[in-house]
Amino acid sequence: MDSTTENSSNPDFKGLRVVAFESRMAAETRTLIERFGGRAIIAPSMREVPLEDNHAALDFAARILAGDLDAAIFLTGVGVRELFRVMETRHDRAALVAALGRIVTVARGPKPVAAMRGLGLAPTITIPEPNTWREVLACMAAQIELAGKRVAVQEYGSTNRDLNAGLEARGAIVTGVPVYRWTLPVDRAPLRVAIGAIAAGEADIALFTSSNQVTNLMQMADADGAGGALIRGLGTLVVASIGPVCTQELRGRGIAVDLEPEHAKLGHLIKEAAVRGGSILARKRGTSRAAQAAGRGEALAQRSDPQAADAAQRGALHDHPIMRACRREPTPYTPIWLMRQAGRYMPEYRRVRDRYSFLELCQQPDLAAEVTTTAVARLGVDAAIIFADILLPLVPMGVGLRYEKGDGPVIDRPLRSAADLDRIPPVAAADALGYVAESIRLVRRALGDRTPLIGFAGAPFTLASYLIEGGSSRQYQATKTLMYTESATWHRMMEMIARVTADYLNMQIAAGADIVQLFDSWVGSLSPDDYRRFVLPHTRSVIAAVRPGVPVIHFGTVTGNLLELMREAGGDVIGLDWRVDLREAWDRLGPGVAVQGNLDPIALFAGAAEIRRRARAILERAQGRPGHIFNLGHGILPETPVGHVIALVDAVHEMSARR
Ligand code: CP3
Repeated sequence: MDSTTENSSNPDFKGLRVVAFESRMAAETRTLIERFGGRAIIAPSMREVPLEDNHAALDFAARILAGDLDAAIFLTGVGVRELFRVMETRHDRAALVAALGRIVTVARGPKPVAAMRGLGLAPTITIPEPNTWREVLACMAAQIELAGKRVAVQEYGSTNRDLNAGLEARGAIVTGVPVYRWTLPVDRAPLRVAIGAIAAGEADIALFTSSNQVTNLMQMADADGAGGALIRGLGTLVVASIGPVCTQELRGRGIAVDLEPEHAKLGHLIKEAAVRGGSILARKRGTSRAAQAAGRGEALAQRSDPQAADAAQRGALHDHPIMRACRREPTPYTPIWLMRQAGRYMPEYRRVRDRYSFLELCQQPDLAAEVTTTAVARLGVDAAIIFADILLPLVPMGVGLRYEKGDGPVIDRPLRSAADLDRIPPVAAADALGYVAESIRLVRRALGDRTPLIGFAGAPFTLASYLIEGGSSRQYQATKTLMYTESATWHRMMEMIARVTADYLNMQIAAGADIVQLFDSWVGSLSPDDYRRFVLPHTRSVIAAVRPGVPVIHFGTVTGNLLELMREAGGDVIGLDWRVDLREAWDRLGPGVAVQGNLDPIALFAGAAEIRRRARAILERAQGRPGHIFNLGHGILPETPVGHVIALVDAVHEMSARR
């Protein structure tokens, strides 16, 4: 019988090399793979570490006993049992069960249900299959009002940031209750062997049985400088995933999943891999050869090899006019993009926005990506800017960020003292803001090698001003008071923000951003002396930490008195608002830097002829010098007519065209 027949239901690996990352069930995994005729490469990737002093679990106990929570979500069975083991070191089980009986309890699927039953608890809500965070959210939202509810989420392993973000987007106040954390195993040699085998094409099937395995495997490979080779290797073999959560983690890292079993169980996974693995592999490798023979190697490489595709894309974009302008190289025309090019002025945006809150839009990568690319297509601009907000890093800081209609952003618990600052938990961008990375990956894929993508973040001063004022401000009274009276706290806060921001920008670059812009929108409220003392070192540390080779645009408004200092802080391109004359500002900055700007956004309310005149005036101020990126001096206003924006883009392209 043909070994590659697809509907052969006989589980037989026929000697294929099967890599698995199971830890707890390592022995069973090996036995099953070998029973089905596979050659097993077992590389345990995780070690469970019970938290010695599990404060989060004990706080959780105290809060349920005090009636201080409205709902608790239990994500895993092992987690439920471990949580109780910790809580019962201090409290009576019967009291805990009774207290939980008074609030809404949610079990994600059969395992937590069973664990809860074992303790004498019946969940209020049971989440149906495939019980990913989407079902948890949808089910809860359908059965209870989430706004204002205090919700605890029992975590096991890594935090489910999508679930937390979704709950927060619906107004819930979320507390994570980590019960176990995963670390890499003590003996990492088998994992290194497996990574080497995958990278060298010496494995045929990879079995993933949890999302934490993916995280740990990539962490290890990255630490060894083998991340790219590993992802490329995985693109040439059969990747089998136990279920939707694990699949989502793999896809989020650009790893295609070839197989998911009908039931999310180890035995089913191995059996189905044994039934279908051979034919999938033949198809994958066969197609690859056929395509290469047909001379379409490159297109295929893009599909099966995300890292190489990424490198190829960056290469192809290297000579895009906007990339050249960042390096002050001559361009065939002046490239243009516009701050807030995806926003309320655009009907396509308002239509999506009618159905979702602003935070939901930012936190759902498919929506954020759609909004980003729609703006590029509609306007014909030379760059995309990822749809997000400079304030998103404040969400994991737990300060209670809300976007209120009419009032702009509001921070419920502003930082006004050293004690406030001490309450801010450490923020790791990849964990807390991974949805932005995912949006970038989606946009990158959609744009191909046609249009560069700009990532961005708020600069430390502007973010600090929101954190301290609790929202937008006119005078920055609280901000400057803290700066002047508690300078040690001020610098500590700025260092914290700078660390998060650098990490966040590099995460965006790793995901595919070609350029990054640092928004210091409100820094113009400072004197040069204060800027030098209280801001410059921190902005400089962010810019210096950005991955070399990726251009940085450093933007602020009302900065006529600060331009030289901003230049000193860093950036390949300095963003100018409309209050300065472009030519004079560029002369002050010197020849070693590019500039961006600087049309008054209100000019877009005038007619096409006036827009054209003003755009021409700016192009004339730039005198065709290499290194000018056309932009507004600040973001597009919500009432701006779309047609006028398109007219501006066309006018700039046409008037600046150089033969
Ligand atoms: O430029 C783009 O198209 C990308 C997206 C983007 C947004 N905000 C989306 C957004 C960018 C680059 C930002 C940056 C930003 N956010 C800055 C720096 C730039 C500037 O304008 O100075 C600042 C200060 C913020 C903080 C912020 N976010 C404010 C003050 C507001 C409310 C005011 C307003 O314009 O609504 C936001 C909300 C916000 N950010 C919206 C958008 C599209 C509007 C949200 C909505 O749809 O209601």
